[in-house]
Amino acid sequence: MWKDWIRPFVRPLPQWSPVAIAPPSQLVTATLRWNGKSTDVTADHTVASLRPLTIATSFDAGQHPVLEYIDSTTEKRLGVLRLVRAGTVNTEDSSIALYHVASGEHHCLTWPRRSWNAWLQNRSMLKNRASSHLNMEPAAAQQLMIAYLCPRPVILVSVNAPGHQNIFPMDLIGPLKRSGFFSLALRSTNVSQPVMREVRRVALSNIPAAMKGIVYKLSEHHKQPLQDWSSLPFPVQQSREFGIPAVAAALRVQELAIVHSQEIGSHTFFLGRVISEEHWSEGAQLHHTAGFHQIYRRKRDIPFTEV
Ligand SMILES: Cc1cc2nc3c(=O)[nH]c(=O)nc-3n(C[C@H](O)[C@H](O)[C@H](O)COP(=O)(O)O)c2cc1C
Repeated sequence: MWKDWIRPFVRPLPQWSPVAIAPPSQLVTATLRWNGKSTDVTADHTVASLRPLTIATSFDAGQHPVLEYIDSTTEKRLGVLRLVRAGTVNTEDSSIALYHVASGEHHCLTWPRRSWNAWLQNRSMLKNRASSHLNMEPAAAQQLMIAYLCPRPVILVSVNAPGHQNIFPMDLIGPLKRSGFFSLALRSTNVSQPVMREVRRVALSNIPAAMKGIVYKLSEHHKQPLQDWSSLPFPVQQSREFGIPAVAAALRVQELAIVHSQEIGSHTFFLGRVISEEHWSEGAQLHHTAGFHQIYRRKRDIPFTEV
């Protein structure tokens, strides 16, 4: 149909693509380069804030490092972010480096489609700005999509405190391997944010891809707490040490003892230690990647399974 042919030329690609990936995945690796040095940060970089877009890592990579995303299958450089040192988070005996994103580009689409798609996406973002929960500058949103070239797992975070309980989705999360921390970047307006800073413990449920619909629906709990664990549309099961209700169908449940939290721009950045990890089932986990990444993979017959 002529409509299918013309669609890519008039409609932007989706910014995010929900996909099913069996963890742990090294399909895309991330390398930090600075002053002639380089190190693999696939399991050691995470988003600490969206406004301004901030990347955290355990590595001190100088003032102006570059973060490269490489496709392990084709060894092609998929994208790059140029970073500028923005500060340090010091806690326990470790320091975590914070970097603002100065610029970036991806190579998942060829020119001129790359520029045309970015133009269409930016135009749509500006048009829908008032209703968009991201509320980022289009250039920063494009850079965030590049950070999602390493597909980001989606989890449900459970909070259980006297008088306050909640469960909501997050994907601005991840290990900072060298320092042994696990980080969460939560919008400071989230209703559970002050409670998490006080009780300093959460359970993280790694979600099977098939639960996508339920997970998206739970995003309402970023604004209002959960009334009753039994009102959820799925069974819960208590986590091992803290006894926090977690998703019974989860692939893996980790308990996090929060050791540090601070506001960074629009988000509160939590650092925690994983104090228990239980494997409850096998299967593919819900992840997010950039829409242009999935197009790149489809063209090469190596697409992620879409959900
Ligand atoms: C799959 C998924 C992952 C999310 N991850 C995060 C996250 O890591 N940090 C965060 O602050 N909010 C996260 N959110 C919440 C949204 O960004 C947003 O705050 C929430 O859906 C409320 O949106 P609204 O303010 O537009 O109503 C996530 C939402 C979904 C559906």
